[in-house]
Amino acid sequence: MMRFPNPQKPMDTRPKSSARLAFNPHVAALPAYNAGMSVAKARALSGKDDIARLGSNENPLGCSPKVLEALASAAFEPWRYADPACTALREVLAGHVGVDAAEIVCGNGSEEMIAALSRAFLPPGSSVLTVVPSFGLHEIEPLALGAKVTKIAMTKDLDFDLAALEAELRKAPQIFFISSPWNPVGPALNGAALDRLIKAAAPTTLFVLDEAYFEFMDPGMPNGIEVLRAAGIPHVVLRSFSKAYGLAGLRVGFAVCSDTEIARVTAAAKTPFNVNAAAQLGAIAAIGDQAWMKNAVIEIRAERDRTRSELLKIGITAAPSQTNFLFFDCRMDAAEVAKGLLADGIIVKAWREKGYESFLRANTGRPPENDRLVASLKRVLKR
Ligand SMILES: Cc1ncc(COP(=O)(O)O)c(C=O)c1O
Repeated sequence: MMRFPNPQKPMDTRPKSSARLAFNPHVAALPAYNAGMSVAKARALSGKDDIARLGSNENPLGCSPKVLEALASAAFEPWRYADPACTALREVLAGHVGVDAAEIVCGNGSEEMIAALSRAFLPPGSSVLTVVPSFGLHEIEPLALGAKVTKIAMTKDLDFDLAALEAELRKAPQIFFISSPWNPVGPALNGAALDRLIKAAAPTTLFVLDEAYFEFMDPGMPNGIEVLRAAGIPHVVLRSFSKAYGLAGLRVGFAVCSDTEIARVTAAAKTPFNVNAAAQLGAIAAIGDQAWMKNAVIEIRAERDRTRSELLKIGITAAPSQTNFLFFDCRMDAAEVAKGLLADGIIVKAWREKGYESFLRANTGRPPENDRLVASLKRVLKR
């Protein structure tokens, strides 16, 4: 039985304390970030204990035990401020991705780097180019700065519209935000596609390639850091520890900048002690256990493909995915479908961007969770 909030709660009739404040109008008008539902809320609403949380693209396999060992070791000193420059972590990352440590900025999740880049590179009157459907913060952070955001829709076959992106890039927006692999859709830019976008970008545009799902890409796909470096355009590549490494709760991500000046200004735009002590230690331990991450990626990719074929059997065609999630059209209000799935204890994300309200995104869980997803969709969509 689904439980809903009590409609009997008395109305608050006090005047708002904020009535005479001057809000930043850009921030006050922001659309809400479409965050995945918590397990506690899903339990309260569904009355079910066993919740399959498939709404936030987390790693269903957890994280490397080396991370937990590091957090239990004497090196973890929560009473001390952590290094605001993340020196040790940046050194490790520099070796891992093959750049200079001075070109890397670490963030409280890669989402903080999206905010910092917006603060750093969007003076008043700026414009930003991105895609729709999109990772919400690629639009929200520029809007908070008062920037104009142009969004290019995906094609009918659920892929990037390269021609439209090229045309808009020629208008020289201040920042171009694009995730590849693409959240929420799933495909990734191949070498030729990335090349077309690089060639269309103006020298005054900061090309931000968000590779939060980099590790899930098919073998042979381009490494954005290498391709953009070779192209020599101003750029930042974002990577995250929240997905393949399973550290979403610790909050660590990083920006690999094309030069030290971009890194310096991006670092100036973040909060000083942004990456906490546990996150710095955990990320170093996670990078040191590549075997755990690679095995997790193999398992998740196999389960993702199995789930995609099971969905196909009940008439649901999910977009081809190079991530840890699937995106598909329910051909009805996806919020209603999500409600139906929640009644079975399953959290997914109903898309809310205009024109995509019939789409759902569900990340790959453990095999029984994926089976539950398919069975519940079958019930809800009457397949
Ligand atoms: C494309 C993309 N970029 C960035 C992020 C932010 O990741 P985090 O802040 O957890 O590193 C996400 C999270 O879902 C994402 O999907």
